[in-house]
Amino acid sequence: RMDAFINALMKKMTVDEKIGQLNLVTSGMAITGSVTNNGVDNGIANGHIGGIFGLYGIENVRKAQQLAVKNSRLHIPLIFGLDVIHGHRTIFPIPLGMSATWDLPLIQNAAHIAAKEATAEGLNWVFSPMVDIARDARWGRISEGSGEDPFLGGKIAGAMVRGYQGTSLRNADAVIACVKHFALYGGAEAGREYNTVDMSRLQMYQDYLPPYKAAVDAGAGSIMSSFNTVDGIPSTGNKWLLTDLLRKQWGFKGFVVSDYTSLSEMTNHGLGDLPQVSAIALKAGLDMDMVAEGFLNTLKKSLQQGKVTQGEIDLACRRVLEAKYKLGLFDNPYKSLNADNERKDVFTDDNRKAARIAAEHSFVLLKNAGQILPLKKSGGTIAVVGPLADNKRDMLGTWVIAGEWEKSVSVLEGIKHMVGDNVKLLYAKGSNITDDTEFMKRLNFGPDMVSLDTRTPQEMIDEAVNTAKKADIIVAVVGESQSMSGESSSRSDISIPESQKNLLKALAKLGKPIVMVLFNGRPLTLTWENENAAAILDVWAPGTEAGNAIGEVLFGNYNPSGKLTATFPRSVGQIPIYYNHKNTGRPYTDGPTKFKSNYLDISNDPLFPFGYGLSYTSFSYSDVKLNKTNLKGNVTLTATVTITNTGSYAGEEVVQLYISDPVASISRSVKELKDFRKLKLAAGEVKEVTFSITTEQLKFYNSQLKYDWEPGEFVIQIGTNSADTHSAKVNWLK
Ligand code: IFM
Repeated sequence: RMDAFINALMKKMTVDEKIGQLNLVTSGMAITGSVTNNGVDNGIANGHIGGIFGLYGIENVRKAQQLAVKNSRLHIPLIFGLDVIHGHRTIFPIPLGMSATWDLPLIQNAAHIAAKEATAEGLNWVFSPMVDIARDARWGRISEGSGEDPFLGGKIAGAMVRGYQGTSLRNADAVIACVKHFALYGGAEAGREYNTVDMSRLQMYQDYLPPYKAAVDAGAGSIMSSFNTVDGIPSTGNKWLLTDLLRKQWGFKGFVVSDYTSLSEMTNHGLGDLPQVSAIALKAGLDMDMVAEGFLNTLKKSLQQGKVTQGEIDLACRRVLEAKYKLGLFDNPYKSLNADNERKDVFTDDNRKAARIAAEHSFVLLKNAGQILPLKKSGGTIAVVGPLADNKRDMLGTWVIAGEWEKSVSVLEGIKHMVGDNVKLLYAKGSNITDDTEFMKRLNFGPDMVSLDTRTPQEMIDEAVNTAKKADIIVAVVGESQSMSGESSSRSDISIPESQKNLLKALAKLGKPIVMVLFNGRPLTLTWENENAAAILDVWAPGTEAGNAIGEVLFGNYNPSGKLTATFPRSVGQIPIYYNHKNTGRPYTDGPTKFKSNYLDISNDPLFPFGYGLSYTSFSYSDVKLNKTNLKGNVTLTATVTITNTGSYAGEEVVQLYISDPVASISRSVKELKDFRKLKLAAGEVKEVTFSITTEQLKFYNSQLKYDWEPGEFVIQIGTNSADTHSAKVNWLK
């Protein structure tokens, strides 16, 4: 039925109308790039626009849709996209935080809630999930993804696609997911935004491509090409990537949209002028051009000149129309424009509760010396200090287009809700986020300019120190502000800004325990903090319910269970740093020595490894029991460990399975995550966890890019993080 409908429609379409479907414009309501489109209303009425992004709200969307459906010659509805990245109105933790939950149903549900809220405001397409593997914390966009691991990244990518798209795109609360940034964008050199990516095919296939593939396998309806080059060719015009790999090898059936002006940016990459790069991109398999208007303004002439074919234009047009058809927009272009839902389904108590629970699960306890946490709910005095404590603006994190920071819960409010009058609370700001005004100006553009405190840094520190003197415990709420991570927020120094460090140093001199509540959109270098704070609770950017979730965790109503999905380096000089590295010919062992692969001045070990995260309780792991140690062919191995909650709190643990393949035809990673299980154990409880391992989990890409396993010895490792596992060996023959 879809094919017949689209065939009939396309028969009526002029070339201009077909090219119009390939044109995606920004409304100007939400600015996410440096160029915007003009004449949008006329463009819609003339059939020159296929979709709009950055526009939401029933009335706004209805107005635009009416123009398309009533005024354009063929009444083709528009598709409405937005960067809904971690919630629409109710904001969940940033994706890096969400990934630290290792909780796929929770992540899927968060995406579903986002879809419900987005559709309630007229949207039917979200530019998420961002599934780029990232091993470089300088890159600000590490905040938007699921960290460094291809297996976990793939699982999360699938869960998010399912959450957004639901069981059918025709459902009133389903949106088309847009998987980005295809491909390899997380490999940007030096962590610098928009920079070059250059990597071997082997590394692509093994480590960077699996999450995109998992999202495609989960049925993602669209994919966004990235800003970078792949094998020297910009992704947006890369035929190998967009057609050979994506469509022919992976069987992708949706449509491909460029990133914001990534089509015209091919000119800066050195691929030619706008007509030329537009023709290259269309031929490569790009279907929709975001903002650049290269397709709109050049394809017709290129067709006349024989530089592109009618068939190529038709194919792209068909894919965009198919998406609209699958959404049910031809039956009802106003499908999600129900004014009742706009009020009913958005920012509800239930959604806020889900966001709070997600935030609690995303927090990673990095240190807890002397079991200082959880804090007592009554008695004593707590000094809450730091620029992120009495602060709503920075609770939501990056990419919150429709999120209203005014409605978020600050840390100070959350702590007050928790303890009421039972604990004496004192507060002092202590410092600005940073005193570097030039840096500040680069961070804050538009109406959300954060004004710097007019007091001198020393006056602010003195006030905080005098306040802290009266307290038993200091809760220091410090770290990165909202715009210090995300798009165009690369940093060469990933430590806590100096103004806050000076505050912490002054507080440390008091000799009182410091509980650090750390806000961060990326792994930070925290060596000094780890030595001087009694506890560090990493809360990322927790979203709307930030303060409430932090209160719940600090005071023990929820026992932290988050685990890092990106390695925390000791120093920026260790980057790129990731757990699944190669052994090298001269592996590092116990410390820097001459003629080994190491640094003279620092250990190779990270400060906190992938998979790491503490709990208020403790878990002990037994040795790994295997049902067999000699196997042959496609059989199943079972590996079992017994976990005991040896502490005095109920808690959740993410049990992680890694496999090493020490001898193979190529040099393999020292270990790779292959499975995990999140379980809850009451104090004193003992549980067995059994993983079933098949030859699928032994497979890798060999030098011929053949995905297979090779017989020999494998080391099965199960543990609490990537650096702390119990292991057992097996021999597995073909
Ligand atoms: O979706 C984003 C993308 O991630 C980065 N550039 C802008 C796009 C649209 O806002």
